[in-house]
Amino acid sequence: MYSKNQQQELLELTRQYLKKTEPSVVLNEAQSATEALIKIINFHDWKYYVQSEPVISDFEYDMLFKLLKKIEAQFPELMKPDSPTQRVAYGLTKAFPSVPHLVPMLSLDNSYNEADLTEFDRRVRDLTEMPHIEYCVEPKFDGASIALIYENDLLVRGATRGDGAVGEEITNNVRVLRSLPLSANFSKYGIAKAELRGEVLINKEKFKAINEKRQEEGLNILANPRNTASGALRMLDAKEVAGRGLEGFMYHLAYAVDMQGKNLLRDTITSHSQSLEMLYDLGFKTPNEIKKVCKNIEEVMRFCREWEDKRDTFPYEIDGMVVKVNEYRMQEMSGATSHHPRWAIAFKFKAKQATTRLNNVFFSVGRTGAITPIAQVEPVALAGVTISNISLFNEDVLREKDVRIGDMVLIERAGDVIPYIVKSIPEARKGNEQIVEFPKHCPSCSSELVKNPDEAVIRCVNVNCPTQVVGRIIHFVSRDAMDIRGMGSSLVYKFYDAGLLKNIADIYRLDYAKILEMEGFQEKSVSNLKSAIEASKQQPLERLIFGLGIRHVGETTAKVLAKSVNHLLEIKEKSAEQLQEMEDIGPKVASAIAESFHHEDNIQLIRELEQLGVNMTADASSQLVSNKLEGKTFLFTGTLEKFSRTEAEKMVEEHGGKILGSVSKKLDYLVVGESAGSKLEKAKKIGTVKILSEEEFLGII
Ligand code: IVH
Repeated sequence: MYSKNQQQELLELTRQYLKKTEPSVVLNEAQSATEALIKIINFHDWKYYVQSEPVISDFEYDMLFKLLKKIEAQFPELMKPDSPTQRVAYGLTKAFPSVPHLVPMLSLDNSYNEADLTEFDRRVRDLTEMPHIEYCVEPKFDGASIALIYENDLLVRGATRGDGAVGEEITNNVRVLRSLPLSANFSKYGIAKAELRGEVLINKEKFKAINEKRQEEGLNILANPRNTASGALRMLDAKEVAGRGLEGFMYHLAYAVDMQGKNLLRDTITSHSQSLEMLYDLGFKTPNEIKKVCKNIEEVMRFCREWEDKRDTFPYEIDGMVVKVNEYRMQEMSGATSHHPRWAIAFKFKAKQATTRLNNVFFSVGRTGAITPIAQVEPVALAGVTISNISLFNEDVLREKDVRIGDMVLIERAGDVIPYIVKSIPEARKGNEQIVEFPKHCPSCSSELVKNPDEAVIRCVNVNCPTQVVGRIIHFVSRDAMDIRGMGSSLVYKFYDAGLLKNIADIYRLDYAKILEMEGFQEKSVSNLKSAIEASKQQPLERLIFGLGIRHVGETTAKVLAKSVNHLLEIKEKSAEQLQEMEDIGPKVASAIAESFHHEDNIQLIRELEQLGVNMTADASSQLVSNKLEGKTFLFTGTLEKFSRTEAEKMVEEHGGKILGSVSKKLDYLVVGESAGSKLEKAKKIGTVKILSEEEFLGII
């Protein structure tokens, strides 16, 4: 898509415009600035959403975006249809009109084993009268299918599958998906009009995070990534669609004609794998990296089984593989039924559903006091994992599914992530099943539980409830919060039980002499723990804010808050209305923050932490020049020419990156100078470590 040179040029251009973020500087060159910014932002969208390898920080991206918006607001005539600012859809869609597909969207026939595939291959060879057939095999994405039309390089229409002949027009919603380019250089391939097919998906981790947040907010839990994706595509408010984090993979070029209307699919673009490569080159997300062109059906079978084994490692839900005759000429000869093409077949993976017995339901207490019913089932294997505990989320879910102790239940592993109970099987009841009683008192501290009328969850509101206290401490020390290495949940429990840790502030008052006397601790481990705890005092303010576990305050909101003050306690002075004026903070979050900072116990905790030496000011975080290397690890080796090693390491840290002591799988980048030796060898062997020259390193900084 972008050659190495183009990428370098665009990064250079990015840097130029990052220096010009004051609009007055560019208004006299508005035309060229608009063009440049569109190019730059489209490039970074591609890096972020298609390649998943961002090269600038979110903050820098926002600056560029805002600049473009400002220029376009001043000079509306410069607005281009493929400007990234046009991804923000305004207003509500009232209904989705029906639109016919250019080519019917057929479905796929299914196969379940090697015998089915052998039969499929025999049929194709009969139909084509060929002794050997080449197949292209790729994942079968489990999301919602879409059809996109590009005309003269611009995205002009997006539609759902509908009944296959006619779909619903969802162009507005499709335009907010940043992994789908608003314009693509089809003309480079002589294509004037094309229809692409693909699937809209949610990353499994993202799906899990959405559900955790929803549970926290007392909203209903989304059943699985597939329903979530297809539901989101039909949301009436495109802004909400954008918030769901959907991504589009394109796997089929259904139609492609040139200026004269001549079909290009067969003689010009000759195979499916070629069209996938072309789409990849045009900037689309495709199954390109995991597709395989196979010489015969045996190779197809091996590839399908290989992916069945490692399906869990794939970041998106896949429920099988799709086997396609690769050459268009052969596809044409194979033909289609009214329902499915004869040149393709889905190979379905083993089901991830099972039935088992529900033995009991117990109730767990989260760090915010939310009470979650957990089903204990007769252990059962599901797609390679033994399942015994399953969350039932909240009382509404429990009642709606009418799950009773002793019931047979149907369970599914949604998105390979969390198992959930699809339904109970009332037909199998014997009559002695018991309705689950929801507790009136907290299972941890026995205080009375409270139900807020606009939430689905029931909570324990006792701030001193032991399970909540431990949960809050675990959250505070966790990796995304204060990141106290070596202090995992088991240690927190141990210290809590030993009376060493009663609240968050106690972390900084630990009695190390007592710990040394405890079983399983040596000088070394205790001194490591002590240094990790000491080091955490200097964590940037945003981590502290996140670590405090204020309701609805995730990492993003914590960052926004940290940027808005010099000292943490300044937040106390802000009203809910003022908080709401901040970016991304809605009424619910604002009132949760205000409420938390009006609670005397919380203020007391902050004061204690400050006295114990924990950083409360924005200084530590603003020492960062940027956070573009956040989460990335570096190591330098060999003789460096352009800077000393100390300087280089400082640069990494200033941009939020970390220095590692040795080459391991955890290392992201090895920067090599002259005569690098064994470290370089080792990095090459590991294979996942990116190796950079000094110039390349400067480039990414
Ligand atoms: S090709 C004419 N490729 O599976 C062939 N479909 O049951 C068109 N699907 O509705 C389909 N991943 O939504 C194709 N790599 C892939 C796919 C895929 C998922 C879906 C698609 C279709 C359904 C067929």
